[in-house]
Amino acid sequence: MSLPEQKPDLEDSINVSEAHGRLDREAAACVREKRIAANGSEPISLWVIALCGVVVLIAGGILGGAGDWFNYKATFREGYVRSAAPGAEETGPQPKEALAAYMAKGAKIYSAKCNGCHGADAKGDGANYPSLVGSKWVTGSTEKLSMIILNGLQGPTSTGKAYGAGMPAQAAGLTPEDLAGVITYIRNNYGNSTGDVVTAEMAKAALDISAARTKVGQQTTGEELSANHEKELAGTPLDPKTMVDPVTLAPATAAKP
Ligand code: HEC
Repeated sequence: MSLPEQKPDLEDSINVSEAHGRLDREAAACVREKRIAANGSEPISLWVIALCGVVVLIAGGILGGAGDWFNYKATFREGYVRSAAPGAEETGPQPKEALAAYMAKGAKIYSAKCNGCHGADAKGDGANYPSLVGSKWVTGSTEKLSMIILNGLQGPTSTGKAYGAGMPAQAAGLTPEDLAGVITYIRNNYGNSTGDVVTAEMAKAALDISAARTKVGQQTTGEELSANHEKELAGTPLDPKTMVDPVTLAPATAAKP
């Protein structure tokens, strides 16, 4: 069957691809369109924000200048002096009680110079190194003890027992403070407690006595010790509670008012 000539086929006049293209373009245009925000929440233009900034700056300048915001005299009171912050004056370490300060020094020297032989607990090993715990020569006269440390020891010890080749001299590199510290340390530690502080000044005297020995450079012996060194070192032991500088061990100067 053929269609009547006078009735054109309307469907034929629709160009399908053209119609689809139009749909696409219109949809894209809709997407580009600004969304309509609810009343009051529309975005503000940038220039309004910039203008506000300028207004705030100018207003701040006027108010701050006329009001006393930047007035030096209004902010800083005449004659006002800040009190020093606590601790600001104190430079360096705080003074310590003499016994604690000398012991701390001595502990360092002991672990550097004596620990290797006499042991961390100073008990020695019973065979090659004697114990310093309860030793009469440790807690006895300070000059004798100093001579042992400075020159070493050969032959019988305080218990009568002799240990091998003896103890080598420990004077190398030992300052009076070091010597005073280690003496105070072994006399007041490991169960020993003479309670006295042998001062750096007393240790200095020991260094002089040691240098003046007739057998200088040789280990001392029990014989020499009892003949010449059964004495207390010159100088007075410090009261253990005296405050001293923990580094120099010098008595601390009176605190500033
Ligand atoms: C290389 C090992 C060695 C070192 C390091 C050493 N000693 Fe000794 N010490 C000995 C020996 C060994 C004896 C025993 C000596 C003897 O038989 O005459 C001894 C003996 C002593 C005695 C005598 C003890 C007594 O009761 O008769 C004292 C005190 C002493 N030492 C203190 C010290 C101190 C303090 C130091 C560190 C500054 C030190 N020693 C470092 C090996 C050592």
